[in-house]
Amino acid sequence: MKLLQIHATDYRNYRSISIDIDPTGKYFIIKANNGSGKTNLLELIYYFTYFKSFRNTADSDLILHGQKQFMIEIKYEDDGITDDIIISYDGNKKKILCNEKRLNKLSDLFSRFISVIFSATDIDIITGSPIIRRNFFNMFFSLIDSSYFSDIKTYAAILKQKNFILKNKTNTDLIDIYNRQLSNIIYRITQTRQKYITEVRNRFITKYNELGEFNKKVDIRYIPSLSADRDINSIYKLFCQKKDDELNAGYSLLGSHRDCYNFYMNGRLFSRYASFGQCRLAALIIKLIQAQYTAEIKKTMPVLLFDDVILELDEIRKRKIVNCIREYNQMFITFTEDIFVDLFDEKEYIRMIDLNSENNNFIREQGSSV
Ligand SMILES: Nc1ncnc2c1ncn2[C@@H]1O[C@H](COP(=O)(O)OP(=O)(O)O)[C@@H](O)[C@H]1O
Ligand SMILES: [Mg+2]
Repeated sequence: MKLLQIHATDYRNYRSISIDIDPTGKYFIIKANNGSGKTNLLELIYYFTYFKSFRNTADSDLILHGQKQFMIEIKYEDDGITDDIIISYDGNKKKILCNEKRLNKLSDLFSRFISVIFSATDIDIITGSPIIRRNFFNMFFSLIDSSYFSDIKTYAAILKQKNFILKNKTNTDLIDIYNRQLSNIIYRITQTRQKYITEVRNRFITKYNELGEFNKKVDIRYIPSLSADRDINSIYKLFCQKKDDELNAGYSLLGSHRDCYNFYMNGRLFSRYASFGQCRLAALIIKLIQAQYTAEIKKTMPVLLFDDVILELDEIRKRKIVNCIREYNQMFITFTEDIFVDLFDEKEYIRMIDLNSENNNFIREQGSSV
């Protein structure tokens, strides 16, 4: 998978940006001072994978201040097929054009352009709250498994309706119907999570030993709120038993939204035991695994996006990571300094994107070709 062009108007700090990407390049270095829009550019590319900012920003905050709508566009090539996707948002509605055809739902585009972002905030996947890990693995597994994606969406919709009833205590006879539907979906979600996490865990252990050199025993455990051994009937029975408790609480006490994933080092939670550097490395490794596993299942190399992460590592690890990413077709890497170039031995594939070349009060007008 290779990006060929990026265009945007009134997006973040860009009034207008247009970049043609040299298809013979591989390492695209986005070089500029802080605050010039490096992360904004990666965020734009990533938007076409999950259709939201990786920084948890509302769409309306992506519109250039003072303007009414943003428009972003990418052209990319995958296995000889070229796609052109345009998304515009006016604060109210999103308009999507794929190869000049209007699409009604972003989900029609899901899992088409695949990128993986590596950012300093990835450390939250290791040390943050359970919901951050759940969201990360949800996005990871959704991209490689369309049934999982649809189960997660349906689950969230039913849960919302059920919670409404539990809170307002109206139409309580519907709870049983929802519980039956939820039992089926929870069973599938739990089995799918279990299946993927087993694979991710094996890779995590191997990769951590390979890159970590800490002689530490690491692990990932998936702890479902309803054990993976339960069949649909047994899940439903438990729901029946807990019905009164749920009505008293006013919200759902059981289900996939309460599942946990934990990262361990030497049998203890990473967040309580590992050093900051070890947590940061674990975060980078989990993203490398996401990229590698996604590439295998989708049979295409995702575009990698590195936002200020490689430089923070020590020299040996930097080189090891650079070695791990050699197999990918295309990556965009933000840097504020020049020394990174020494890291890559494939110098002929390095291309520069210099955002400092024009500066219009932080509102850029660019027309660069790299
Ligand atoms: N909606 C917006 N409109 C205008 N400027 C924005 C908007 N959102 C963010 N910015 C600006 O973008 C800049 C940050 O860009 P960023 O990509 O994070 O910089 P960096 O190059 O350090 O990664 C800041 O100056 C910020 O004020
Ligand atoms: Mg940045």
